[in-house]
Amino acid sequence: MKKIVIFASGSGSNAETITKYFKDKNVEISLFLTNNPNAYIIERAKILNIPCKIFNKEDFYSTNAISDILININPDLIILAGFLWLFPEKILRLFPNRVINIHPALLPKYGGKGMYGDKVHKAVIENGEKESGISIHYVNEKYDEGSIIYQAKCNIIANDTPETLAQKIHVLEYNYFPEVIEGVLDGKF
Ligand code: GAR
Repeated sequence: MKKIVIFASGSGSNAETITKYFKDKNVEISLFLTNNPNAYIIERAKILNIPCKIFNKEDFYSTNAISDILININPDLIILAGFLWLFPEKILRLFPNRVINIHPALLPKYGGKGMYGDKVHKAVIENGEKESGISIHYVNEKYDEGSIIYQAKCNIIANDTPETLAQKIHVLEYNYFPEVIEGVLDGKF
């Protein structure tokens, strides 16, 4: 049985979609982890019956609390699904090529520190882009700069707003992210 853990900082709708996708497959969603004690992913974890660990900055950056949990699980993949903190290099070194992020734009554009969620969609619209999309990529020590695994695009029309673009991006995420994760687990990327 392959194992996945998912980090998220907010709603966790991707975490839920991924969990449901793998429900009757030979993949266990071992744990959700969040840095945000108010994140809705905590409620989703209860409903989905997935254990959920809430952690703080000290746990993550100054102690081995989170790396010890991960070493104990030994996941095949660590998924960042709307996780907003920089992933520590010391944990990356423990899991080379096993940490994957989704970003709601076509990297290398509109990435980097502070570019998340609606801030990304607002910048894309303000710049008059005609298309946006999702980028699924390996994580390295810099925000949104690891090598790209998969991208999918959507068109932007004249009266799109950050909210309508966010909806289009979520549709792409729900359609492609679980399948790409499965492909990576199967060694297809
Ligand atoms: C997703 O759109 C994801 O691409 C984005 O946050 C959203 C989380 O939604 N991630 C980033 O912006 C990372 N820089 P969710 O919590 O409902 O899955």
